[in-house]
Amino acid sequence: MSQSHVYPVNPEQASHSLIDKAGYQRMYEQSINDPETFWGEQAEQFLGFFQPWSKVLSGDFSKADVSWFKDAKLNACWNCVDRHLPQRADQTALIWEGDDPADSLPITYRDLHLAVCRLANVLKQRGVKKGDRVCIYMPMIPEAVYAMLACARIGAIHSVVFGGFSPDAIKDRILDSDCQSVITANQGIRGGKVIALKDNVDKALANCPNVHSVIVVKRTNAEVSFKQGRDVWYHDAIDQVDDQCAAEVMDAEDPLFILYTSGSTGKPKGVLHTTAGYLLSAAISHKYIFDYHEGDVFWCSADVGWVTGHSYIVYGPLCNGATSLVFEGVPTYPDASRFWQVIDKHQVTIFYTAPTALRALMSMGNEPVQATSRQSLRLLGSVGEPINPEAWEWYYNVVGEQRCPIVDTWWQTETGASMISPLAGVTDLKPGSATLPFFGVKPELLDADGNIITGAGKGNLVITQSWPSQIRTVFGDHQRCVDTYFTAYPGYYFTGDSARRDEDGYYWIIGRVDDVINVSGHRLGTAEIESALVLHPKVAEAAVVGFPHDIKGQAVYAYVTLMLGVEESDALRKELVAFVAGEIGAFARPDIIQFAPGLPKTRSGKIMRRILRKIAANETDNLGDTSTLADPSVVEQLIANRHNR
Ligand code: WT7
Repeated sequence: MSQSHVYPVNPEQASHSLIDKAGYQRMYEQSINDPETFWGEQAEQFLGFFQPWSKVLSGDFSKADVSWFKDAKLNACWNCVDRHLPQRADQTALIWEGDDPADSLPITYRDLHLAVCRLANVLKQRGVKKGDRVCIYMPMIPEAVYAMLACARIGAIHSVVFGGFSPDAIKDRILDSDCQSVITANQGIRGGKVIALKDNVDKALANCPNVHSVIVVKRTNAEVSFKQGRDVWYHDAIDQVDDQCAAEVMDAEDPLFILYTSGSTGKPKGVLHTTAGYLLSAAISHKYIFDYHEGDVFWCSADVGWVTGHSYIVYGPLCNGATSLVFEGVPTYPDASRFWQVIDKHQVTIFYTAPTALRALMSMGNEPVQATSRQSLRLLGSVGEPINPEAWEWYYNVVGEQRCPIVDTWWQTETGASMISPLAGVTDLKPGSATLPFFGVKPELLDADGNIITGAGKGNLVITQSWPSQIRTVFGDHQRCVDTYFTAYPGYYFTGDSARRDEDGYYWIIGRVDDVINVSGHRLGTAEIESALVLHPKVAEAAVVGFPHDIKGQAVYAYVTLMLGVEESDALRKELVAFVAGEIGAFARPDIIQFAPGLPKTRSGKIMRRILRKIAANETDNLGDTSTLADPSVVEQLIANRHNR
């Protein structure tokens, strides 16, 4: 990368950023060399405790067995709400912006406190206790945030399921963590379209006998069916309870939430995060990466159904007493100016979104951006997938008018908070690079034999020591946590990503090295889509890979072998696409289905995905070694019939 591609920190920004380059260096070194002193001091600054810890860090990282802030007592909801009441009861905590531009609502910290207390009391009244799991399946409305915080307040563990998941996917997640209560809405509205949330929940619950309580927010006027004794309207229930509810005293290592995410094998994993470490990482990263100052209006455009929404709509900003914008809609409704109109309307100062949204908007030209002012903006962020330099430049030049630094934040559901990212106003930027590690994060690149690569180079990205918001376990299956993250390279946390490090020590995330794909920022396991396809009675076998897509980043390419005698047709293709949407969710729909009478397999029967990936990407001139294939002629057939032309 040539030096002309470096965007040095602009001196004006540097003059009011929280720290400078030397400050970052000093804090970073302390965080790595003396993590206990560093994190102890940060915990005192960022969190309020009911009882102090006896030891900052203990346990064995290599066994995924760590404990942060042993014996400390606190409550995450209290930290995000009650703690702020003395100084900021009248400050806006949440700005809700509805799907319809005519709908918006400011919610103060006082309002938030009362709403959360009421819902917490409803949960208690309906038998939810500390340690119980609660499924939240909601549109992007304030009640989604209330629901998360109400769970945290009484010590229940929330499991938010993204509103785009199908009934089957909801059912799997409810059963896996044995959620006995659900909080949902009758319907959701996104981009002018209605989403049948309560219907989906009802379908899911047909196979979830343990669920005894469903609380339903009335988002639209639509009637929905209610099961007597099990279902209640949110508005009726909160009317009948007190608006005060003491926050439960929780241990630092008590679980805060479970969030399901896809891996390369098996069913989605319930990633479990605990209270103190998670909250501290969310808060400190929100402050330093986004150079958060009092008075900022912070907007993370993610959905609370993903970890980005957990950490940067809810826990990070609210823990810091910020104003956080909750957006119900989509970037292109009613038109392609929507993001920028919302920024003007609410005077957003910090905006955090995904490359896929930027690429989609970029393809619609500059006019929808330039029709708005965006003068309030001082900082931009990117998350979820590598941002290609073209999209970065567009974001920087057109959206930010060369005034706003871009923080490209690399992290994962499992890491809880950003791990590699610039600090706004501190780090010089290179388009496409997530730059340098955050406090407490010590990355390394390993070669195929597990040796550490020093200096510039490329390898598998691992983290070498514990950080406060690291995954604690996979719910109900600790061995799976150890096997997935701590076994490939003993002693290290393996991210599943590969990366390059340049001469300046900057990291460039290349992408997943496992069978996980990233479609429009949604993480999908190819194995999950394959399992869905083979459930269809006409499908004998399926192999799914990702292929490059201009807007989505990656798209889904499915090779499908039909049962003997089943006729190939476009109608069947459509049927299979709809079938996957029904099994997982619309966002997992294959973009291309190629009927494949044979798949490239080794003599031991293993599908050679490397070859399938190349055919899907149209890179067929260099397929590599195919001599181990049981039947090499299969490959020519697949190439002749490929669909991505
Ligand atoms: C995977 C994690 C981070 C929260 C949202 C996604 C990819 C994420 C970046 C980035 C390049 C990125 C990685 C990672 N990823 N951020 N800034 N640059 N790649 O969380 O669903 O758990 O997905 O997203 O491949 O492993 P997730």
